[in-house]
Amino acid sequence: MVILVATEKPFAPVAVKQIREITEKAGCILRLLENYKDVSELLSAVSDADALIVRSDIVNAQVLDAAGKLKIVVRAGAGYDNLDLQACSARNIVAMNTPGQNSNAVAELAFEMMLFQARGGFAGKSGTELRGKTLGLHAFGNVPKYMAEIARGFGMTVFAFDPFIDHEIISGAGVKPCNTAEDLYSGCRYISIHMPANDKTKRSIGYDLLKRMPSGAVLVNTARKEIIDEEGLLRIFAERSDLKYLADVEPDSKAVFQEKYPGRFIFTAKKMGAQTEEANINAGVAAARQIVDFFETGNEKFRLNK
Ligand code: 3PG
Repeated sequence: MVILVATEKPFAPVAVKQIREITEKAGCILRLLENYKDVSELLSAVSDADALIVRSDIVNAQVLDAAGKLKIVVRAGAGYDNLDLQACSARNIVAMNTPGQNSNAVAELAFEMMLFQARGGFAGKSGTELRGKTLGLHAFGNVPKYMAEIARGFGMTVFAFDPFIDHEIISGAGVKPCNTAEDLYSGCRYISIHMPANDKTKRSIGYDLLKRMPSGAVLVNTARKEIIDEEGLLRIFAERSDLKYLADVEPDSKAVFQEKYPGRFIFTAKKMGAQTEEANINAGVAAARQIVDFFETGNEKFRLNK
């Protein structure tokens, strides 16, 4: 079996080494397509692949049509908005992700951005501390659980809103559950967003929620830029000079922020949340194991498509 790792943003070499060990021990051939610049490179590399490991790389009908032998694609990571699940199903291709594997890295990045912002980018001026502040987690999946743990160490009070998770589970993690998103946004100085990007969540955070945030509030987005209604965000930014926006990946309206709101935002140029050796190893190795297991035993535990 040929397994292709196609990563426009490559894994750390130490992760690739471990992926190679697992796949070659199982008798598979590992091929690497890293740092590719054009989709044509991916289209040609997938032509003889039986299995594909990707990160945020787009796997759509065009890619699948070029992959005549493909049986399984694994998104080494949590969010799978880059996979066309319907197109996979239509071609009898199994699609999986590796939930939870890079969550701590994303949680740490959220805090890194919060700390950098709280100290004014280390420019010498007096900043603020996290201790005693409120943190609101919008959704309570794997990343927010790590965030709650870290926040406790910083002496923050943590709240969460997630309509799909029982309040007991949230309380059990030492976090105060909120009944509505409005309550969460009204009560928290820091809001950290953790929903997947789908038809229901895209552009769901806008002016009406953001206007509720208390004075000096900071919105942190390590999820997807599409969740934010950027028009609404820009409207509240224009009205309130106290608000800040920290995002892992630049918004579409980055130029407006740069021109009008210097010092009130941090945007990573490339998605950095999962860019640690540990997260690359966790997610990459999980993907490799899931593929080997699928070929050897038919295990479809992390299957996303029906
Ligand atoms: C995820 O959904 O797992 C994270 O956003 C990481 O994405 P990446 O693998 O493209 O860095």
